[in-house]
Formats: sequence, C-alpha cells, structure tokens
Amino acid sequence: MLSLYLSYAYLFISSAVPVAHAAAGKSIFLLAGQSNMAGRGGVVNDTWDNYIPPESFPDLAILRLSADLNWQLATEPLHRDIDMNKVCGIGPGMAFARSLLRKDSSIGVVGLVPCAMGGTNISEWARGGDLYKRLIRRAEAALEVGGTIRGLLWFQGESDTVSREDAESYKTRLQNFILYVRADLLLPVLPVIQVMQVFFYGKMGGTCIGEGPYLEIVREAQLGMDLVNLRTIDAKGLSLEPDGLHLTTPSQVSLGTMLANAFMQTHPSSIISSNSIASKIMSLNFITHFFLMLFLANFLIY
Ligand SMILES: *[C@@H]1O[C@H](CO)[C@@H](O)[C@H](O)[C@H]1NC(C)=O
Ligand SMILES: *[C@@H]1O[C@H](CO)[C@@H](O)[C@H](O)[C@H]1NC(C)=O
Repeated sequence: MLSLYLSYAYLFISSAVPVAHAAAGKSIFLLAGQSNMAGRGGVVNDTWDNYIPPESFPDLAILRLSADLNWQLATEPLHRDIDMNKVCGIGPGMAFARSLLRKDSSIGVVGLVPCAMGGTNISEWARGGDLYKRLIRRAEAALEVGGTIRGLLWFQGESDTVSREDAESYKTRLQNFILYVRADLLLPVLPVIQVMQVFFYGKMGGTCIGEGPYLEIVREAQLGMDLVNLRTIDAKGLSLEPDGLHLTTPSQVSLGTMLANAFMQTHPSSIISSNSIASKIMSLNFITHFFLMLFLANFLIY
C-alpha cells in the first residue's frame, strides 16, 4: 500500500518535470554545505598545493555549472568561483562523478552544480535566505538545457556545533531545509546523501582548534534523520588537514567514492512515464495532489 502511494507520487511528479529533457539529458547533482563540500583538500595556511589526484582528473563526461551559469568541462577546485572568499582545494565532487561513471554506464553525462559556502551554519541555508535562493536558482538554471536532477550531496554542520542550542535545533533545521528544497524543485523524493561530519576539537600545539564542543549532538541529529530517500555516510576515520577540521585530498577522494556508493542505493528522483495514468493524474487538481504526495513521500519510511 505504501509503495503504491510512492509509485503514484513518482508518476505524478514525472508529469511535472520536463520529460523530453529528462529522457536525453545530463544527470545533475547539487553540491551544498560548507567548507568540506566546497573542498579544502591540499589547502594549508590558506594556500592550495595545486595537486590534483588522478581520481579527480577532468573527464569529458563531467561538466560543471559555473558561477555565471554556463556549463563547462569540470575541473578542480570545483567551487573556485562559488566559495569565493576562501581558498578552495580538492573536494569530493570530481571523485564522486568519476566513481559514478565507472559504476553505472547508464548515468550519461554528469553535471555538477557547486553551491557550498565555507563557514555557513544551517540557519543561513534556511528557505528565503541568500544561500537557499542561490541553490534553487542554480538548480533551475542547470535544468534549462536539459537533464534531470538526480541528487543533492550535503556536507554541513560544523558551524552548528558551537552552541548547544544550535546543535539541538540541527535536526529540525536540516529536515526543513531538505523538505523545502524537494518541494521547490518539485522532486519530493529527490535523493539526498548527507555526510556526518567529524573534526578534532581541543588543543593542538598549544592552540585551540576545531569548531565547537557539540559535535556529538549534531552527529546524532544527522544519524536520526528519518526522511525517505536520504542516505547518510560517515566521515569518521578519514584524515584531516593540520587544522583538524578539513579533509585532506586523499580523504576527499575516499569520500567521493563513498558518496557514489551511497547514491547507487537510492531510488530515482523521478521516473519517466508516458502511460495513461500519468496523463490522468495531470488532470487532477495540481496543488492539492502535489502537497498530498509530498507529504506521503517524505513521511513514509521504507
Ligand atoms: C603553516 O604555518 C605554520 C605556522 O605559521 C607553520 O609552522 C607551518 O610550517 C606552515 N605550513 C606550511 C605547509 O607552510
Ligand atoms: C549563523 O551565521 C550567521 C552569519 O555568520 C550569524 O549571524 C547567525 O547568528 C548564525 N546563526 C546561528 C543560529 O548560529
């Protein structure tokens, strides 16, 4: 019964996205969060070492949406014109895309949409804020020349470990963020892969490093998320730069593979269907059914 409702949601949503484009176009992924998604691999003392590992080399089948909304061959650092106030290095995006191409020959061209911003907290990603608006604007621009948004890769939370109150509000704030992104993109079951963050907090060489003391509360919030089609992977065990906060280049490569593996376990963001059920659903009241389906899709757990 539940899965029937979900199939119904899939069918309904497939009628709301540009089907012709989806059939032929790119597999689009949104990259959002803070510094570790933007990429700081190889950045020490605000200088990037310029080292690009083979796992993150450019590939003709991997494109990037630039800050001025043009598709171009993707090269590291992926966020160089997005997270502009910081020095960017290697992130997980290229390794993710290359790993996905190896695992799934049907994936076609991968379109990466970098949107992450260093140092941002979850409140700054709330609907209506600049980061949220930019994410949606870039996602919509990414669809303009065809393709399907296949997933959102999310790595954020470090900035919410500073105060207990923020850490305790993290789960609700992140859930709201995901629900709104899915609603605004008309993709109620958009696959989301989130990374549970980890950093060193304490004294190292006489100086205090790490973001804040409430890491475990935020990690528990991330683990406890109960949205449909959300996968969670853990950065624990991956090596960090000397700042104790940012993943190294080899760690980012590992993370990219972990993200690809997790994505392979999600369900499609929409299915392409031209059968009569879809056209019947089209004729139903759009708003009522959209929100009903959104509700069902997000609160049922399989
Ligand atoms: C970074 O700066 C610290 C402190 O100024 C210094 O000890 C260290 O050698 C520098 N590391 C690199 C790779 O430049
Ligand atoms: C989030 O970050 C912004 C900008 O740095 C800051 O003004 C705000 O107080 C932070 N919000 C929370 C809840 O920490």
